Amino acid sequence: MLTSTLCKEIAGVPVADLVRQFGTPTFVYDAAMIRRRIADLSPFDTVRYAQKACSNLTILDLVRRQGALVDAVSAGEIRRALAAGFTAEGDPPPIVYTADIFDRESLDLCVEHGIAVNCGSPDMIDQLGRRKPGQGITLRINPGFGHGHSQKTNTGGKQAKHGIWHAQLSDCLRQAKPYAMDVVGLHMHIGSGTDLEHLSQVCGAMEQAAIAVGPSIRSISAGGGLPTVYRSTDSYVDLAAYFNLWDAVRRRLEQRFGHPVRLEIEPGRYLVAESGFLIAEIRAVKRQDDNTFYLLDAGFNNLARPILYGSYHPMAVAPADGNDARPEQDVIVGGPLCESGDIFTQEEGGFVVTRRLPKAAVGDWLVIGCTGAYGFVMGSNYNSKPLAAEALIDGGQARRIRRRQTFDDLIRGEEIPAS
Ligand code: LLP
Repeated sequence: MLTSTLCKEIAGVPVADLVRQFGTPTFVYDAAMIRRRIADLSPFDTVRYAQKACSNLTILDLVRRQGALVDAVSAGEIRRALAAGFTAEGDPPPIVYTADIFDRESLDLCVEHGIAVNCGSPDMIDQLGRRKPGQGITLRINPGFGHGHSQKTNTGGKQAKHGIWHAQLSDCLRQAKPYAMDVVGLHMHIGSGTDLEHLSQVCGAMEQAAIAVGPSIRSISAGGGLPTVYRSTDSYVDLAAYFNLWDAVRRRLEQRFGHPVRLEIEPGRYLVAESGFLIAEIRAVKRQDDNTFYLLDAGFNNLARPILYGSYHPMAVAPADGNDARPEQDVIVGGPLCESGDIFTQEEGGFVVTRRLPKAAVGDWLVIGCTGAYGFVMGSNYNSKPLAAEALIDGGQARRIRRRQTFDDLIRGEEIPAS
């Protein structure tokens, strides 16, 4: 966590050393923080990591060693899970493919490896049934309401494309019958970065839906969406209270069905957001009238959350000369891209705001906190910028877990047809 606007070290390693080792921009993750966040959720039977938040193989390996299982939303994520050592089959299934469609590659992979499938559309039931009749499936249900930190991360309600509409549940049960596919579990995920009040409403909807399906149900998943702490004024959610709500639903279902019902949770952000720091170098300090800009060598090609959602991330200056006696000033922090939206200090709608940060000069570093979730993975090659490097700090040691892209990586696969 960045607790002040000055930052000298990350997880015990001086920022200057990290820059010397890996260059900038680099995402650095703190392994201990990820372990702590997985342990927080140990009351749940299964913690299934939503790898879309941060899918570096080393992070997946770390999560696996901590006993968590994994969610995959694409063929690429299935392949990553396999590459990181998750087995395809098992009980509970180590990998679950959750999506609203199968593209041809993901369907082939699920069939070939026997990957568990969580169907988010009636079409997926038919497509899997034709290829692999008899396989148990889970259904992702859209309960008719949703909530997220932004309208773009609200995944419930009739304007959302996600999940099987709750009123179509019995049609889907009928649809699965000819393929002899039992519905062995239900899943609901109403949005990302929501709050406990909204998440708690899911419990009632889940109980009703599970009763409608009946005793073939062996697992229920609360989905992801747990909020995390981005601002010093944010507070941690009451996980014990949240678990108790879900546990009560599970126990009532167990009583009704007369067999155990596994309780899953599927967080992405909660497990990895706080572990991540994006280190960039300040490459220009300039004034536009009475505004002061710190311009970094990292932009929305590295961290898209501010331009996409107006997301707030904590920031701190890491002085290159070690001098931390620096007065603060209001600044705007932006990146190198040729687009005016390339600003890290903005609110939803693109409104630029200032941040109070220590005075800095070219060559100082800026550390952006809470970037472990939906940071690197949403990076792009816009403006022909290479993807950043990634490193993991564990036991006071920082090691590279992804090298920075090179120009050759950027143009790999491009062709100029012979004329
Ligand atoms: N399960 C499902 C089915 C999901 O769609 C998601 C997120 C999760 C779990 C994990 O949600 P989490 O626990 O991380 O909130 N790019 C956005 C977030 C998009 C989330 C998409 N689905 C952001 O930067 O805030």
